[in-house]
Amino acid sequence: MSIMRVKSVEQSIRDAEAPEFRLRRVLRAVDLLGIGIGAIIGTGIFVLTGVAAATDAGPGISISFVISGIACGLAALCYAEFASVVPVAGSAYTFSYASLGEFFAWLIGWDLMLEFIIGASTVSVGWSQYFVEALGSVGLALPEALTAAPGAGGVVNLPAAIIALILTVVLVVGIRLSAAVTNVVVAIKLAVVLFFIIFGAFFVKAANWDPFIPPYQPPEPGAVSAPLEQPLISAIFGQTGSFGLSGLVAGAALVFFAYIGFDIVASGAEETRRPQRDMPIGIIGSLVICSVLYVLVSLVMTGIVKYDQLDTAAPMATAFQAIGAPWAVGLVSLGAIAGLTTVILILMLGQARVGFAMSRDGLLPVWFAKVHRTYRTPYRVTLITGVIVAAIASLTPIDVLAEMTNIGTLFAFVLVSVGVLVLRRTRPDLPRAFRVPWSPVIPALAAAACLYLMLNLEGWTWIRFGVWMVIGLGLYFVYSQHNSRLARGKNADDVADEL
Ligand code: ALA
Repeated sequence: MSIMRVKSVEQSIRDAEAPEFRLRRVLRAVDLLGIGIGAIIGTGIFVLTGVAAATDAGPGISISFVISGIACGLAALCYAEFASVVPVAGSAYTFSYASLGEFFAWLIGWDLMLEFIIGASTVSVGWSQYFVEALGSVGLALPEALTAAPGAGGVVNLPAAIIALILTVVLVVGIRLSAAVTNVVVAIKLAVVLFFIIFGAFFVKAANWDPFIPPYQPPEPGAVSAPLEQPLISAIFGQTGSFGLSGLVAGAALVFFAYIGFDIVASGAEETRRPQRDMPIGIIGSLVICSVLYVLVSLVMTGIVKYDQLDTAAPMATAFQAIGAPWAVGLVSLGAIAGLTTVILILMLGQARVGFAMSRDGLLPVWFAKVHRTYRTPYRVTLITGVIVAAIASLTPIDVLAEMTNIGTLFAFVLVSVGVLVLRRTRPDLPRAFRVPWSPVIPALAAAACLYLMLNLEGWTWIRFGVWMVIGLGLYFVYSQHNSRLARGKNADDVADEL
């Protein structure tokens, strides 16, 4: 059997019904919207907006959000079609197994781990920063050695590890609790974002939006950075400076982080009551809501404060300080802490579900896929995920890892878009509750837009991504290829004794 073997959609659905591996179908459309918004609004809008405005795009950062949002929207349509055809845990991994074959499915699964594990670790570190600051503001200072990674001036980042472990327990106890926790926290986070937009709108000065797109600034002679520190596209076609049109795109590649998360909705398909109907609502709905909020937040933010003042870790707080409303700063911190909590929770949820699907298929040891007798959650893979995230978060500085999350996610989007086209050709007969309009144009545009954003990430990110993928290839050929359940011709029921 070739490594391009395809696992049929019917078999994926059958596997999900094997009693040993069955998850509970409890999620409704509104829960999916909560999961989507809970995963999406986080570090991106609370932290990165300011930096991107100050260094890349000026007030034009709102246009960057539109560019990035369009790329995500195109990909979201593809995700929605897939999730409505293959309503099984594992998201892009499962979709590619059904369309592009096992080898690509493995690649994408391995790549999704990068997105989820590194993403959750990154956001845990961001959470810790806000948490330590909030404690400090009420006079409780924690020693720096215990609140930062070795590379960031400390010894171990304990708050980051602790939040990751607490959320792991929440996930093991059950997805119903997770959805309930998520909905409450999402409400707080949405309220804070809306408050920022509505209250802040009264303090917008149109003069701050002029120039809306600051003119292009070529790099200063002598300030040419090493090729690997530039976006790949600049290294290839000549170095670009900031602002102007190229600044808008560089800003879009950076704030792409803010949109990551709508794709995770798809990984809950197996726990959704009516996935065919509710998946498209959850995926596209959460993306649309967040895009509108992001554009408004960035307009208000750059309208309150001149963009060159926004290069701070907490730009919303900076804006409120500028209008003399320090009481509102505490409110924003609360929203940020709440917001980041759900992002970590859901990224780990996504990782656990992808790991579960890959183990159930035998590409990772089946042992990981054991479902808890009482809670009906894949507890082993969830616990392992939590421990790895806690370890990385406690020992690694935030900056190195953030771009890695973007490249991993964009690559997944490219494969999903191509996968939609392949599955339309190979299985035109399957019922599709949701169809991407104007196929093949939209899936092709989605793939092209995501590739283009990938090219705007720096050379080092590409190298790290390459190394990660090479390790994955090695594992595939040494282990997964031979242990694949599909290769061994076994159904999910047959491997229950390996648990
Ligand atoms: N979109 C998520 C965030 O911005 C990952 O934190």
